[in-house]
Amino acid sequence: MQSLKIDGCSGSSSIWIENSLNRLQDFFRPGKMVLLTDTNVASLYQSHFPTAPVLKIGTGEAVKTLNTVHKIYAQLVEMEADRSWLLVGIGGGIVTDVTGFIAATYLRGIDFGFVASTLLAQVDAAIGGKNGVNFKGYKNLIGTFHQPRFVICNLEMLATLPEWEFRNGLAEVIKTAAIANRQFWEYLESHVDAILNLEPAVMEHVVFRAASIKAEIVREDEQEAGRRRILNFGHTLGHAYEKLLGVSHGEAISAGMRFATQLSCQITGLPEKDAARLEQLLNRVGLPVSFKADRLKIIDAVRHDKKRQAAHLHFVLLKELGVPEVVEIPLIKLEAYIADLCQSS
Ligand SMILES: NC(=O)c1ccc[n+]([C@@H]2O[C@H](COP(=O)([O-])OP(=O)(O)OC[C@H]3O[C@@H](n4cnc5c(N)ncnc54)[C@H](O)[C@@H]3O)[C@@H](O)[C@H]2O)c1
Repeated sequence: MQSLKIDGCSGSSSIWIENSLNRLQDFFRPGKMVLLTDTNVASLYQSHFPTAPVLKIGTGEAVKTLNTVHKIYAQLVEMEADRSWLLVGIGGGIVTDVTGFIAATYLRGIDFGFVASTLLAQVDAAIGGKNGVNFKGYKNLIGTFHQPRFVICNLEMLATLPEWEFRNGLAEVIKTAAIANRQFWEYLESHVDAILNLEPAVMEHVVFRAASIKAEIVREDEQEAGRRRILNFGHTLGHAYEKLLGVSHGEAISAGMRFATQLSCQITGLPEKDAARLEQLLNRVGLPVSFKADRLKIIDAVRHDKKRQAAHLHFVLLKELGVPEVVEIPLIKLEAYIADLCQSS
């Protein structure tokens, strides 16, 4: 078992990478606690949960809304949950986002922790204390910064994850290596088969490295005023693809990363061979690197992304694999790049 820590202004977070489901109960001390999970995770793992009342939500982005939050607030009030209670979210990024948002706002904040059950949650969503819900069609528009007291990344749970959900997480792992650490990048390149076969020692290393890198970025910039922006590598176009084409988040940011590296070759001098390596790695793990879409619609979706700042966008590019640079690009110029580099339907 490996662990790491984030000490932020919004609290301290201990992150544990744990192999065994049977040891899950050992992490919890007796006390007032309530669990929040989704219906899939409950049907697979409820027998391993610690003893406590279990609240359930449905699955999919459509449940990540203030409506769901209201229902959970009501259940907490009915249970007379006070500030001494601990709220534990057990599930993927949707459960951890909803749990973190509720815990940060109910009674102006109660303690909370996560058992992250998807690869994406283990390397990204559960780490860093940023949690939000969707509003009026915009993803994560309403949210909070508040560190979970603990995050348990349970590797055994990954075995039941559908293949496409695993690939969603891998897209974020690849992103993390691309923006932050060439050595980790090379490790991924040389362990593709072991990763796809979920070899425990390799997966422990992958989750630990990716979570450590995210933790280090969050330690430097908890509230996304600067460096944390590099985590959006591939996401500007990715969000547009996700919204327009309904493809999964991982597939969308995979193609978004490929676009960002093409742009990097032109703007920040990323060597062509580094761009080709990114494309190859994405291909090897089964992620798409391009989509056909109406360019004008892509441009429109980018224009309306919530991260847009006036007439400019902060766009994350690479100087080389592992070395990011955030560049301010005028929207009008980005539109020209999209028209030039994206395949049209
Ligand atoms: N807060 C952040 O910093 C941050 C970062 C990245 C992503 N996110 C958010 O995370 C969400 C996506 O998270 P996700 O990809 O984990 O999706 P998810 O929570 O929807 O989980 C994916 C699916 O897998 C199921 N599942 C979960 N664990 C399982 C397991 N062990 N075995 C079998 N099935 C399992 C779930 O029920 C669900 O159907 C998005 O809403 C995104 O906005 C947040």
